[in-house]
Amino acid sequence: MIVVNDIATLRKEVNQWRLQGLKVAFVPTMGNLHAGHISLITEAHKHADKVVASIFVNPMQFGQNEDIENYPRTLAADQKKLADADTDLLFTPTPAVIYPKGLDKQSFVEVPQVSEGYCGESRPGHFRGVATVVCKLFNIVQPDVACFGLKDFQQVQVIQTMVDDLSMPIDIIPVPTVREPSGLALSSRNNYLTEEELKIAPALSQNIQWLAEQIKQDNDFIGLAKQAANFINNAGLKTDYIHICHAKTLQPASEDDKELVILAAAHCGKARLIDNLQVNL
Ligand code: PAF
Repeated sequence: MIVVNDIATLRKEVNQWRLQGLKVAFVPTMGNLHAGHISLITEAHKHADKVVASIFVNPMQFGQNEDIENYPRTLAADQKKLADADTDLLFTPTPAVIYPKGLDKQSFVEVPQVSEGYCGESRPGHFRGVATVVCKLFNIVQPDVACFGLKDFQQVQVIQTMVDDLSMPIDIIPVPTVREPSGLALSSRNNYLTEEELKIAPALSQNIQWLAEQIKQDNDFIGLAKQAANFINNAGLKTDYIHICHAKTLQPASEDDKELVILAAAHCGKARLIDNLQVNL
């Protein structure tokens, strides 16, 4: 695996592949890799000849009250996992490489509508930061396809919308969430959970499952979501939101909608967990 941290070297390497007519897949990450990330690399191999991954803890997507300094950084272990998964190139830029002018003078990408609400409401500016860095990374790597985990369902919609709106010639591949046997979605944030919290954290996915079953029989979406929030709170978590939405627009679902997604977030100790489930009625 080639490891590079500057744009010129990355472009030189990727250009050589292009000249040979090879297809390139890209998996952007913030590191602290787990089996969910590796499933993205595995999926990427199915769609391309070469796989590029990046590790960049993107300051633009963290809010002022969010602790970017203590975000887990495990580069040596991450590098080994990526090499073991046959990643061809790892890009590990510093903030100065990505944002040479600093954050304040940097142009940004704002994706309307799908960025609003849910995590966009709880984390103002978060999706602007995600869209901007993904746009920059796409322009740097110029991949044919890029893989993103469906655990971050709203993020996938934001990126797909950006790609459509800005006519980027990149296929976005959504990859199913990898879960613990308890149902808990794998996330770097699970590292913040104590042993006790790990026991209650699966209440989030369990109650999303419960809600999915209920809405197949009853279209009181708002009332049922409130009940699910109470169950999550009673388990010892603090629900941030749980909503039943149209799977494409992410607008609150109406009675006639058939393609739905349940989006949810809850605090468990120091960790803010998110999860979702697509439901087709
Ligand atoms: O999902 C993530 O890890 C990040 O939001 C991403 C897509 C790598 C952008 O920083």
